[in-house]
Amino acid sequence: MDRENNVFYWLPCSVVFVSTAHGAARDIMTATAMFVSEKEPLLAISVAQGHLTEKLILESAKFTLVIAGASHKQLAKQVGSVKGDNVDKFEKFSIKSISETWSQALIPEGAAAWMICNVESSHEIQGYRIFIGRVVSQQDTGKPPLIWHKDGFFSLHEV
Ligand SMILES: Cc1cc2nc3c(=O)[nH]c(=O)nc-3n(C[C@H](O)[C@H](O)[C@H](O)COP(=O)(O)O)c2cc1C
Repeated sequence: MDRENNVFYWLPCSVVFVSTAHGAARDIMTATAMFVSEKEPLLAISVAQGHLTEKLILESAKFTLVIAGASHKQLAKQVGSVKGDNVDKFEKFSIKSISETWSQALIPEGAAAWMICNVESSHEIQGYRIFIGRVVSQQDTGKPPLIWHKDGFFSLHEV
């Protein structure tokens, strides 16, 4: 499928990092997310199967959804193109993190917001695993978010 026929190319999304940890292992990857419900604090992420992120979410039954800040373009490309199996991305990319006591998963400095989620359910589809997360803790830093659209990164402007 060429990119002009691909929903990934057209659908504007907030850029997020899915940060995970279990035991001594930790990982972070770039992704997108969608809210599921207005009444309940539920959201959905789609994670390619076989990646470390999927493994750590399955093992820990939780993930931290970090809303990327407008300064995170380079980081989004870095952790969105390297697999975490054989490398600690936090060390490789010298990611400074904000300490957060609720979760082992690390939150990069410059984040717009973050939400700690427990896995409510998961569904396999076409090589991806959709995780529905229930937000159990959240924080908004007030920094503007980073947006993904047509292979580019943007920031928000009020219209
Ligand atoms: C803008 C952007 C959005 C992405 N969205 C997703 C996504 O929603 N799901 C996914 O599985 N991978 C997505 N990726 C690719 C993963 O971030 C990439 O495969 C990453 O290396 C996986 O890390 P891991 O192997 O350590 O789990 C995205 C990459 C970019 C740059």
